[in-house]
Amino acid sequence: MFVLLNNDFVNRNECLIDIEDRANQFGDGVYEVIRIYDGEFFLLEDHLKRLIYSLNEAKINYDIHKHKLADQLQKLVEKNAFQDGGIYLQISRGASPRSHPFPKNTEPTLIAYPIPVSKPAESQEHGIKVILQNDFRWLRCDIKSLNLLGNVMAKQSALDAGAKEAILYRDEEHVTEGSSTNVFIIKDGVIKTHPANNYILNGITRLYIFFLAKQLDLTIKEEVFSVKELKQADEVFISSTTSEVIPVVQIDEDQVNDGKPGPIAKQLLNAFSEHKH
Ligand code: PDD
Repeated sequence: MFVLLNNDFVNRNECLIDIEDRANQFGDGVYEVIRIYDGEFFLLEDHLKRLIYSLNEAKINYDIHKHKLADQLQKLVEKNAFQDGGIYLQISRGASPRSHPFPKNTEPTLIAYPIPVSKPAESQEHGIKVILQNDFRWLRCDIKSLNLLGNVMAKQSALDAGAKEAILYRDEEHVTEGSSTNVFIIKDGVIKTHPANNYILNGITRLYIFFLAKQLDLTIKEEVFSVKELKQADEVFISSTTSEVIPVVQIDEDQVNDGKPGPIAKQLLNAFSEHKH
């Protein structure tokens, strides 16, 4: 496998990263997961735009245009003859003796490489169970940060409970997002999802769902909703680059509506599959 390490393509076993890279000690960096369908990037521009946002917010000085990142990623896909899956990309603040302040004169470290992604066809068809969990993460969830301990712990709690995702809430009145997904509810034909602010990651798939909803003449609102609204919704679904759209049919021990994937989630999923290219 070829890895893009800064500006070079190297074999995976030759990809040397310093033990004091700040990604390692501090999770001091940002990342993206970008989907590849049939050898082509899906929504690459949007991912690069969000990457720039994360870099700026984290004050990591990396110019993606100067490094011709889009071209390099294209080359990475070609060199690996990669057809279907994802590209994982991270940029850390670079390697420096361990100390909290931003190091001076340190170049960021970029790595990008292909990762397998299997289409969650079964979950999409039958829907999934989720658990509700307190959102104990930090308050800058808008930055796609490498610090994922809170997300990882939430996801594992879900799996330990026989569920596939944890839906997070700050308090009873405020559901935010999933451990690695955005959350949508539907009541009386109106789709609602959390506003894009510091409490959630503004998912690229989330934004794409806004586009699809418009095409399909569906009403979609960015509004905070409560745990009660979530539980009483007609439909619930989650979205992400790797999940696309997945209906939620059970929350803890409660069924969502009749416990089957709802028509609007299905409609969006169909539209997703048609528009993908
Ligand atoms: N996760 N919210 C969180 C906390 C996420 O980690 C993700 C993505 C999303 C959805 O964003 P997008 O639609 O841009 O993928 C929302 C990625 C896929 C991951 O960490 O694997």
